Amino acid sequence: MTYKALYRKYRPSNYDGLVGQNVIVKTLRNIVKDEKISHAYLFGGPRGTGKTSIAKIFAKAINCLSPIDGNPCDSCEICNLINTEQVSDIIEIDAASNNGVDEIRDLKSKINLAPTTCKFKVYIIDEVHMLSTGAFNALLKTLEEPPRHVVFILATTEIHKLPLTIISRCQNYNFKKITEEQMKIRLDYIIEQEQMKVTPEAIYEIARISDGGMRDSIGLLEQLYSFTDNNIEMEDVELLSSSVSRNDIYQMLLNIVLGKMDHMFKKIDSFYQGGKDFIRIAEDTVVFLKDILLYKKAKDFFKNNYRYDMEEYKDLLDTINEETIYRYITEINGLIGDLRSSTHPKIIFEILMLKLTDVKPSNIELKETEEIKKENIIEVKENIDDVKKETFVETEVESEETLINEKITPVKSKETEDENDTLLNFVNIPLYKKILINNTLATAQKSLLTELKSKCNQLSTFLINKDFKQAATVLLDGKIVGVSDQCVIWSYQYNVIVEKADVLKKEIEKLIENMFGKKYRIINISDEDWKKIRPHYIKIVKEKKQIEILDEIDEEEIKKPVKRKKKSKEIEEAINIFGEDLIEIK
Ligand SMILES: Nc1ncnc2c1ncn2[C@@H]1O[C@H](COP(=O)(O)OP(=O)(O)O)[C@@H](O)[C@H]1O
Ligand SMILES: [Mg+2]
Ligand SMILES: [Zn+2]
Repeated sequence: MTYKALYRKYRPSNYDGLVGQNVIVKTLRNIVKDEKISHAYLFGGPRGTGKTSIAKIFAKAINCLSPIDGNPCDSCEICNLINTEQVSDIIEIDAASNNGVDEIRDLKSKINLAPTTCKFKVYIIDEVHMLSTGAFNALLKTLEEPPRHVVFILATTEIHKLPLTIISRCQNYNFKKITEEQMKIRLDYIIEQEQMKVTPEAIYEIARISDGGMRDSIGLLEQLYSFTDNNIEMEDVELLSSSVSRNDIYQMLLNIVLGKMDHMFKKIDSFYQGGKDFIRIAEDTVVFLKDILLYKKAKDFFKNNYRYDMEEYKDLLDTINEETIYRYITEINGLIGDLRSSTHPKIIFEILMLKLTDVKPSNIELKETEEIKKENIIEVKENIDDVKKETFVETEVESEETLINEKITPVKSKETEDENDTLLNFVNIPLYKKILINNTLATAQKSLLTELKSKCNQLSTFLINKDFKQAATVLLDGKIVGVSDQCVIWSYQYNVIVEKADVLKKEIEKLIENMFGKKYRIINISDEDWKKIRPHYIKIVKEKKQIEILDEIDEEEIKKPVKRKKKSKEIEEAINIFGEDLIEIK
């Protein structure tokens, strides 16, 4: 018999074994009862809350020959085949394990084939936000027009990382954390089945530590079981979770207060080596700080209501004052969101802790600290933005894109080289677009860019407008990167959204006219292409050459050589407006 982790052994086979997620379960059962199956479902929410489990149950339910109240019967021929994994029609893809490239390619080639055994072919794509860009493009295409016999269930812990274009294609379900009471119900069941002995106190502690994640709680239970003599008590639980113990947090804080950076980094490293969760550590640090504050302000209350002895942490108590505690809490709370959305939590955590070492403990220096703080916040924010950029879709702040618009003010007119045939030959986009981009950048206006960007705030309001919904969805997935008084360049992470934007061009231009109060032409490109194009133009400006205005061509006229126009009036005007002193380029 092969060993199976407890959490897998107790993966519910139908809705009866589930705890929590009641609304979701009810809705999904109704869908089966009413036979109103859609093409795509999106399950978002914290890990270990039942997304994969429910996806599997739902996939079975829609194929079950005699579902009971929307619940798979678990006894018909199909249910049996699915339960014994003898069905090829339910396909699970884990994007986290290999970016899904091969699987999605396979998916594309087989998707049109009818299911072999089941009514529906179901693709469960787990951690869908981790798909590579290529795989994502392929998936989006398929989601646009899936064959009738196909159902997609996408699951993710990071829904904010998905393009709106995907989200809007799916029925969305937001999974909630499992409450401690709900967890206890399931843990009690498993404990009974496995004939374990666990004190109720310990069960609640397991539930508390697991912070809403059912898988974590079962995992912890299993660890405890293998490490104690089947008599699990509160102390065992505390011991096992000791690597994020209060004592560790205490030591980390003490090192920060004393400015012992070496020790602090070592501590953080040990958390990392132990596979600890930095978000959790940050949260627990806030709780601990709050406890210290309470202890300082209301010792008796603390002693009567808390089950641990604060005097153990005397060294820290004596060195940290209330002001500092408040500041620490503020700093941590301020960055915890970034920590949550980062794929590099250790780096963010280190930045955060470094930031704390900057907080000066003395009240007298308050004003100065305030200023330092501000600077640091900006600095840290920048660091985080860098990390974000490097890892995933950035949430746009003032960014590089403004740079080019700022710096490509046409300067001295010099003779330019003949670029007719080789215009932007390093990117694979249609010539008419290249020319439009070129011309837009030749007359780019930074102030207009800022203005239009801020007007984009209204974009989401168009989502509820029947005529503009599609266009708004697409635009929200991208960002403006360049503007002239005639054209707007809009850049997108995924090629397939660029294609979609091209298809919806008329609608988008109408929306833009509505939003900006003036007609503009839209040029859609991918972030990848923009990343290549941008430095090219910066270089031209840097060499104090001039970007030439080129003759436009029709979208179809791909082969025709590009003709040069004479230096336009606009450029001369631009020179007049901006002057010739060019801002330094890095
Ligand atoms: N709501 C739940 N009810 C009962 N068990 C659950 C629930 N959510 C998760 N589990 C347990 O945790 C394990 C992992 O859950 P899973 O569905 O893979 O979570 P997710 O996909 O949300 O990360 C399951 O095998 C099951 O044992
Ligand atoms: Mg899962
Ligand atoms: Zn069945």
